[in-house]
Amino acid sequence: MSETLERWGSKRAFILAVTGAAVGLGNIWRFPYVAGENGGAAFLLIYVAFVLLLGIPVMMAEILIGRAGRRGPMQALGALAAEAGATPHWRWLGLFGALTVFCILSFYSVVSGWSIEFLVASVNGSFNGASAAEIGAGFEAFLANPGLQIFNHSLFLFMTMTVVAAGVAKGLERLNNLLMPLLYGLLLLLAGYASTTDGFGTALAWLFLPSFEALTPSVVVHAMGHAFFTLAVGACALMAYGAYMPEEQSLPRAAVAVAVLDISVALLAGIAIFSVVFAQGMDPADGPGLMFVTLPIAFSELPWGSVWLSVFFLLLLLATWTSAINLAEPMVATLQGLGLRRSISTAIVALSVWLIGLLSALSFSTLAEFRPLLGRNIFELVSSIPPDIFLPLGGLMIAIFAAWVMPRERVVSALGAGENGYIMWRIIIRWVSIPLTFVVLLAGLL
Ligand code: PHE
Repeated sequence: MSETLERWGSKRAFILAVTGAAVGLGNIWRFPYVAGENGGAAFLLIYVAFVLLLGIPVMMAEILIGRAGRRGPMQALGALAAEAGATPHWRWLGLFGALTVFCILSFYSVVSGWSIEFLVASVNGSFNGASAAEIGAGFEAFLANPGLQIFNHSLFLFMTMTVVAAGVAKGLERLNNLLMPLLYGLLLLLAGYASTTDGFGTALAWLFLPSFEALTPSVVVHAMGHAFFTLAVGACALMAYGAYMPEEQSLPRAAVAVAVLDISVALLAGIAIFSVVFAQGMDPADGPGLMFVTLPIAFSELPWGSVWLSVFFLLLLLATWTSAINLAEPMVATLQGLGLRRSISTAIVALSVWLIGLLSALSFSTLAEFRPLLGRNIFELVSSIPPDIFLPLGGLMIAIFAAWVMPRERVVSALGAGENGYIMWRIIIRWVSIPLTFVVLLAGLL
């Protein structure tokens, strides 16, 4: 088994790779619709607080485990547990992470497939001059078309798995370098345009002035799940990336940089989307279609609308692509760690995610009435339970492992923040992040 893996080319490359994993559907698609369903500003406030109190410290814990172990998640956890004299069962945490990303990737691929469809439609100018109602109806019809859902899901998964099969580091580095600044620039432009629309004031108030009646326990649970989801924390996916981290880099700085970028992408997307929602008199709680319906409307009102819209969907597709690659990596790394070849591991993961993903792809048509749990169909189940419950649970175990189990010297050196930085991190993770995640999870399960 290879112990010393390839390394990211530079510190910047590492930050970009983690940002690439973090920024994706979570920011642009999931944040607006989950915030829309959970009261807007109250949700935003709690989610940002969770990013600071849990997301960042646990992200550091997760990456430092990978960095100290320098192997795939299961092997890293097992080796570090043995070193600390703890039970080797910690390695199963790696498997739990792989299971979590498996569920997530199964719906992620379906929704990313929607971006492919929308990219093609905007290149063809299909949204030109269409009204909000027509775009909404078009989206519903697209969801209800099993063939198209399966086709786009398959295509996206194929794109993802080809990169994964080739090995991650080199290709991703180049892609992220270009993609992140472009995506950010385009969202800035869009938010700037949104500020000239009628809905802008209402959107700002709705996003930034919390009304505390809106703050229910379920909002808190969703906000915590979303904090983990959007940062890509809790599934050992970043752990796999930590294994490639350069020796001399400071982890806290990298984690804070990623979190700031991640939140700001979500905010820009939120401002753009909700300005349209309010300008058009739409309902913020409209569910998973929110972004797909609002942004074509917003862009169609700009000069050169369909060109901008095409660029936007292209960038979105690339952003989800880099996240999906990160989602697939821990599973492939796990199988590889068990002794399978990379190509075989990738093929197994691809095929099984494809199959399970079909259940989500068909949740809007053939399987719409198949509601095995809590009255929810498969898409609704896999897009809520793994992010809201599995990620925080995995994050909790990761935090406990790094904060209480690993030998102190290993953590200090893998954190790369000196003795003082270590003490600060340890106080926060032991006495804030771990208890808080535990309490919210418990509240969510009860
Ligand atoms: N953070 C990604 C997004 O926001 C999703 C993700 C979750 C990626 C968990 C990896 C692990 O789209």
